[in-house]
Amino acid sequence: MCGIVGYIGRRQSQKIILSGLKRLEYRGYDSAGIATFNEEKISVTKCSGKVTDLEKKLSNKPHSSTMGIGHTRWATHGAPNDNNAHPHIDFNNKIVVVHNGIFENYSSIKQLLLENGIYTKTDTDTEVIAQFIGFLYSKEKDFMPFNAILRMALKEVVGTYGLLVMCLDQPEKIYAAKSGAPLVIGVGDGENFIASDTSPIIEHTRNIVYLDEEEIAVVTKDDYKVLGDDNSVVVPKEIETIKYSLDQIEKGGYEHFMLKEIFEQFSSVSESIRGRIAPDIAEVRMGGISGWTNNILEANQIYITACGTSWHAGLIGGYMIEEVLGIPVKVEYASELRYRKAPIDSKTVVMAISQSGETADTLATIRKSKEKGATTVGIVNVVGSTIARETDCGVYIHAGPEIGVASTKAFTSQVTILCLMTLYLAQKKGVESEDITQMKTELITLTEKVKTVLKVDDLIKKIAIDYKDSQNFLYLGRGYQFPVALEGALKLKEISYIHAEGYPAAEMKHGPIALIDEKMPVVAVVTHRAYDKIVSNIQQVKARGGKVIIVTSEVNKELENFSEHIIEVPSIHHCLSPIINIIPLQLLAYHIAVLRRCNVDQPRNLAKSVTVE
Ligand code: AGP
Repeated sequence: MCGIVGYIGRRQSQKIILSGLKRLEYRGYDSAGIATFNEEKISVTKCSGKVTDLEKKLSNKPHSSTMGIGHTRWATHGAPNDNNAHPHIDFNNKIVVVHNGIFENYSSIKQLLLENGIYTKTDTDTEVIAQFIGFLYSKEKDFMPFNAILRMALKEVVGTYGLLVMCLDQPEKIYAAKSGAPLVIGVGDGENFIASDTSPIIEHTRNIVYLDEEEIAVVTKDDYKVLGDDNSVVVPKEIETIKYSLDQIEKGGYEHFMLKEIFEQFSSVSESIRGRIAPDIAEVRMGGISGWTNNILEANQIYITACGTSWHAGLIGGYMIEEVLGIPVKVEYASELRYRKAPIDSKTVVMAISQSGETADTLATIRKSKEKGATTVGIVNVVGSTIARETDCGVYIHAGPEIGVASTKAFTSQVTILCLMTLYLAQKKGVESEDITQMKTELITLTEKVKTVLKVDDLIKKIAIDYKDSQNFLYLGRGYQFPVALEGALKLKEISYIHAEGYPAAEMKHGPIALIDEKMPVVAVVTHRAYDKIVSNIQQVKARGGKVIIVTSEVNKELENFSEHIIEVPSIHHCLSPIINIIPLQLLAYHIAVLRRCNVDQPRNLAKSVTVE
């Protein structure tokens, strides 16, 4: 997520804004910038890299100003570089904006600007809105107040925004607009602040006002007016007092980033889907691979390659592509594929899945595959990362920055994207079926089911108490639930340091059943598919005194008799079920780790991105 800080008041704005941007660094970003305004002009300075790099750039650009806006960018459209960094300014050098969110229809607005002789200079959606506001302002400034012009511009956009705007002809005002991305005003004494959250504000004032959807605020140094959707009404806003500590604010009030990111899955899955499936489910859009669909559909062999959690997502993607498209898929650990003499050539497609986009083994496999003529596809979270840049084509998962080392929201977004990609390729291949229609329909309601399954948190917290001292765990699943079992086991072992293994349930009788006793908890993920078979596996565990925790959408007396605990989840199409079924397992790992006083966000020996072999 991007970070936004605005200041207007009696003190120098630059210092306040830069320290505010540093407070927002926890959100993850790849470039930073600031625009300050004194009576003569607006001064814009920006660069890829960190706030410290911006400070260096500013050190030889003294600019006295008591008003300004700043930004840390988490790239969504356009690679992280100086040019794409915010703030963005219009063709007349009168309007300057910083933005958090995504404008989905920026291409059509860009076309309109082009037809009016206005050319954009960056790859960003945000510059388009700056130019659009400038375009409307140049036409309407003698007939309408600025806030009405801003409202007119925002009514034309589709997407989300937390937006700050300064206008050269409005030297005493900062305009703030909110829709789908947070903005909060800090109310000071002879000064006011606007930011993405309260962390940049708390050191100056604890008096805050939250903007609500579709509100525009006009902020001066002594006042702020909040205008409703019809622009004229001043919306009465209650001043609240910040109660959180700074550390708590950065985690959104959660104890750890991991828990925050588990609960963010309600919105991150929605961001992954945003703009990629029409509400009437008629069409799936996947621009990032649109020029490469023939290469993929005509491939003799598709490899999906990744590491860790991303490899688990890849297993699910492989099942979906084989089931829906009938194309053979091999899902390989990147660390293995990079050294194997695999038959990779120009008729091969290699899909790399990576949250960070920097994992050494995955990157090496992509480079080797390209040398052999393969088509390479990236499914990545970090925009502009090396894997994203070096693959021939690809799709960003838009999960937002994932700070906790244990991957959670990236996994569910990866599976979501793999499902959308499979549907997009089926659409291109002209494959239609009841099943495909059901998958599309269930994608539209997916986030509601994510919200529902997150409600099991209190139950999981209780279950964790019974199992926090276990030495070993076994996770079982069949079909699409086997990768869920693997991922659940990985979550537990990497943050609680309890040994855990994921296994295909039917494999129990080929060895692991020898381990079962009352000290070996078994987590089984049960869906209606292969129900009888997995129930018989569970019976074998029970017969040997094993304790069973069941995650299922099929709650019934039989399962209740076999299990110590049943965690009910919403039922959903089997291709999407890992997105739902993994969430209780993420929470189980989290609560057990907390009870064991482990360092949940930075587990021992682990790094967020393994950039070395
Ligand atoms: C998962 O919780 C781990 N942090 C780890 O397995 C991770 O998934 C793996 O290192 C791959 O990282 P990537 O997705 O950034 O390539």
